[in-house]
Amino acid sequence: MNTSAHGFYLPCRAGFEPECAAEIADQAARFGVPGYPKAERDSGFVRLLGLDLAAQALAEKRLSWRALIFARQCLPVFAELIELDPKDRLSPVLAAVAARGQRFGDLWMEHPDADEGRTLSGLARSFGNALRGGLRRVGWLTAVTDLHAPRLHVILLGGTHLLLAHSDPTDSSPWVQGIPRLKLAHDAPSRSALKLEEALLTLMSQDERSRWMKPGQRAVDLGAAPGGWSWVLTRAGLQVAAVDNGPLAESAIGTGMIKHYRADGFRWRPEHPVDWLVCDMVEQPKRVAELIGDWLIQGDCRRAIFNLKLPMKKRYAEVGQIREQLMQRLHDAGIDLQWRARQLYHDREEITVALLPGNY
Ligand SMILES: C[S@@+](CC[C@H](N)C(=O)[O-])C[C@H]1O[C@@H](n2cnc3c(N)ncnc32)[C@H](O)[C@@H]1O
Repeated sequence: MNTSAHGFYLPCRAGFEPECAAEIADQAARFGVPGYPKAERDSGFVRLLGLDLAAQALAEKRLSWRALIFARQCLPVFAELIELDPKDRLSPVLAAVAARGQRFGDLWMEHPDADEGRTLSGLARSFGNALRGGLRRVGWLTAVTDLHAPRLHVILLGGTHLLLAHSDPTDSSPWVQGIPRLKLAHDAPSRSALKLEEALLTLMSQDERSRWMKPGQRAVDLGAAPGGWSWVLTRAGLQVAAVDNGPLAESAIGTGMIKHYRADGFRWRPEHPVDWLVCDMVEQPKRVAELIGDWLIQGDCRRAIFNLKLPMKKRYAEVGQIREQLMQRLHDAGIDLQWRARQLYHDREEITVALLPGNY
């Protein structure tokens, strides 16, 4: 009897495979899941392999996409098909889905977000159309998309090589390939606006956003110029103090909801505590994390979202140290906030962290 399982597929930003691999190996070890990561530089994904069926079942219960920073998804793989016949890819996929015996509510066609993977986008589209029809005909895919039912992911790794994976819509990225299709509004002051927009969508649920971010609240934006993050906050109805020696764009000032302070973000403090602190200053990550800790501990803000620029080397280890030190400081001060972090699609050599109440 074959007792080997197919492990997990974890897409990430191309070039960050070592961080993604180190992180999933750490997570697996923490939960007692035997397995090893396999990654190829610049491929845009990592696989967790070496699991038997029992370890796969355990890992599917324990490993969560939410706890991972560098993975855009964390998908349990249930079949790997290699050396497919380009004239008939459909039959083996239909057979593998039938062998699983699970009805899916949606089909997502994916490929790694890297140079080689992107050449597969045309095939993903055409094959996806054929497969959708085929799956519906035999009943393994609901006739109409069901957003609450498990999702089927078909991940093309080559023209004749693919993975079949499944996900729970409540514990996975809400976007195909983990990549949000956000459009930059014509009046957004900077592309960075998309970073905060993605962070708000990724690091909080819809319910949390409506409970915690309300019109009339006050926020401080450190390193605000030209004003993309401040502008996103005004769209949620917040009043913003934007701190930066650089100028703000007309479209930010024109909102009438942003007050610009030309000052050093490491020294400036508000007269009264604010609901939100956001920070996108390009600075040493340790310094930024210390500053955010100071604001929270001294009661100048209640919640924070900030970017940590990653160092050139030992990026994963450095993030771990920063997190440990910051969370220990907050814990010692009796502040009960949760660390939520992700390398967003719109992040480059950086990650975005939110310190928020509640379980994630
Ligand atoms: C990446 S940009 C911020 C972009 C902004 N979040 C947006 O959405 O438009 C970084 C900003 O941090 C500012 N900055 C860096 N060090 C700072 C400091 N010590 N005090 C205030 N601003 C600082 C820079 O002037 C720069 O405008």
